[in-house]
Amino acid sequence: MTDNGPVLILTGASRGLGEATAYEAARRGLRLVLNARDGTRLAQVAARCRGMGAATHIVVGDIGQPETATRLVETARHHFAALHAVVHNAGVLPPIAPVAQADPAAWEANWRTNFLGPVMLNAAALPLLRASRGRIVHVSTGAAVRPVPTWGAYATAKAALNHLTRILAREEPAVTTVAFRPGIVDTAMQATIREQGAGVMPPEEYARFVRYHEEGRLRPPEEIAPLLVALALHARPEWSGEFIAFDDPRLQALL
Ligand SMILES: NC(=O)c1ccc[n+]([C@@H]2O[C@H](COP(=O)([O-])OP(=O)(O)OC[C@H]3O[C@@H](n4cnc5c(N)ncnc54)[C@H](OP(=O)(O)O)[C@@H]3O)[C@@H](O)[C@H]2O)c1
Repeated sequence: MTDNGPVLILTGASRGLGEATAYEAARRGLRLVLNARDGTRLAQVAARCRGMGAATHIVVGDIGQPETATRLVETARHHFAALHAVVHNAGVLPPIAPVAQADPAAWEANWRTNFLGPVMLNAAALPLLRASRGRIVHVSTGAAVRPVPTWGAYATAKAALNHLTRILAREEPAVTTVAFRPGIVDTAMQATIREQGAGVMPPEEYARFVRYHEEGRLRPPEEIAPLLVALALHARPEWSGEFIAFDDPRLQALL
């Protein structure tokens, strides 16, 4: 079992990009604190990470609730006495609906997961991250800068996350904070678009995502996970505040 690798808190680790990132981090010798709501799946992911030699703990809970942030950081402090990186990967797309039909409860749930969760976890983690001169990676999306009609809740929450990245870069000079654009990844979130977007999203937008799938253009999570781990370990201080895409040549250079 690793007993001196960098310590990573990773949210949304029960499936998709987060699950692949957990395995990549375990392979690279990191010590892990993993979060998601589905405790059964999260325990399975953690068991596989331990099987790869990574000291791994889990915190089952909704990242939109303040106590989850506290429990994540206390778990890192208690078991590892340090924290080197936080990857905010947990995310949800719905509601898919125009602003004119906005359901306040659905928008609030979306913003809790996509935006307030990262705010609260950062607040709890910053003392340890300052001490380690550590890193924060916000998993964002192209939709934060390219408006997709009917994705208002998700896209505005991620745009806010990009700006939070810039704010933190100014407020916390000892910590390197970046936002990451993973591209189109073959996960449950893409299935949600295909299942829930029909008849709601503009037809040409919906057709584009169906086409990505049919043409096999979705990237496997295992292809993107190494980029996320590389940023968590090696994002350069001068990049702090940036929104960095998966195909940025600087990322390839980090690998
Ligand atoms: N897939 C893409 O094409 C794509 C493109 C751009 C950006 N992204 C971003 O990539 C990240 C990962 O998404 P994905 O594609 O891997 O989606 P996914 O397969 O749906 O996985 C989302 C993960 O987030 C967790 N999660 C959701 N709500 C949560 C909450 N309230 N508290 C804690 N965990 C929560 C889920 O676990 P539980 O359900 O067990 O809680 C799951 O592990 C997201 O931030 C997403 O916005 C994805």
